[in-house]
Amino acid sequence: MSPRHACIVGWPVAHSRSPLIHGHWLKKYAIAGSYTRRAVAPGEEVAFFGRLREEGFVGCNVTIPHKGAALAAAHASTESARAVGVANTLWLEGDRLWADNTDGAGFLQHLRATVPTFAPAASAVAVLGAGGGARGVIHGLLQAGGREVRLFNRTRDRADAVARHFAGGVKAYNWQERADRSRDVGLLINATSLGMQGAPALEMPLAQLDARCIVADLVYVPLETPLLAAARARDLAAVDGLGMLLHQAVPGFKRWFGVTPEVTDELRAIIVANIEGG
Ligand SMILES: NC(=O)c1ccc[n+]([C@@H]2O[C@H](COP(=O)([O-])OP(=O)(O)OC[C@H]3O[C@@H](n4cnc5c(N)ncnc54)[C@H](OP(=O)(O)O)[C@@H]3O)[C@@H](O)[C@H]2O)c1
Repeated sequence: MSPRHACIVGWPVAHSRSPLIHGHWLKKYAIAGSYTRRAVAPGEEVAFFGRLREEGFVGCNVTIPHKGAALAAAHASTESARAVGVANTLWLEGDRLWADNTDGAGFLQHLRATVPTFAPAASAVAVLGAGGGARGVIHGLLQAGGREVRLFNRTRDRADAVARHFAGGVKAYNWQERADRSRDVGLLINATSLGMQGAPALEMPLAQLDARCIVADLVYVPLETPLLAAARARDLAAVDGLGMLLHQAVPGFKRWFGVTPEVTDELRAIIVANIEGG
């Protein structure tokens, strides 16, 4: 087979760890091909997605701020991409550009690998944040049988819009209610950008949580966010954002290069070293 090429498209894109992940798999499975970064300025993304093949690519990952445009530019999309409303994975089938969103499935795979006893339908879930990451995770939880998601967002309108979008399973609350209304949840998820390196800290008390509550963070730089450190200090199960990043990458690699890659401790150690090395 002739070499195949994929990339990650974003603006900026220099910080992305995706080339490390896919580069590791290309080497591990001895596949002739490449996975590179493409910085595409806002306003140029639709044209770029339209000439993906001419650019030499069989597909790409998409990151901020082009995830919405990626879905709009595709000719066909998976149910996940449509439900989440943004796409993070594109691939060509003949002349047709397909879009998928793999965040929700990636989140759940890592959650189940970390806490095998997690039962989505057993209790309510609290989600902080109402952006693309939050919508991906909510979709994954509802697909897995989750019945009640309590959504807290600084901008209430955005939480209301997400609740309407996922009619039924999601209830929106004010940001200030996040502590009071999370006393009985089985899973608390930070899907805001708070706690990220360079961003303000997330203010979220954990003392009120049930002793069996799992605490997850989508943020993966730093790897151990203040929220996860506080959860561990309270003896709660903690699920980091890096595992989600690794698992969400699997379907794209399979589409572009024809092999289902494995998320291993070795791969994780490579990305951890990169994050810790700055
Ligand atoms: N691990 C992974 O694979 C993975 C995948 C996707 C995303 N992520 C991470 O998840 C986080 C969110 O990503 P996204 O794509 O969903 O971003 P996004 O669409 O920009 O949403 C950002 C969210 O953070 C909230 N927020 C920002 N500043 C805030 C503040 N000062 N106080 C309260 N809330 C604040 C926003 O609230 P407003 O609506 O009020 O602005 C919004 O809900 C990022 O850290 C991203 O790296 C990780």
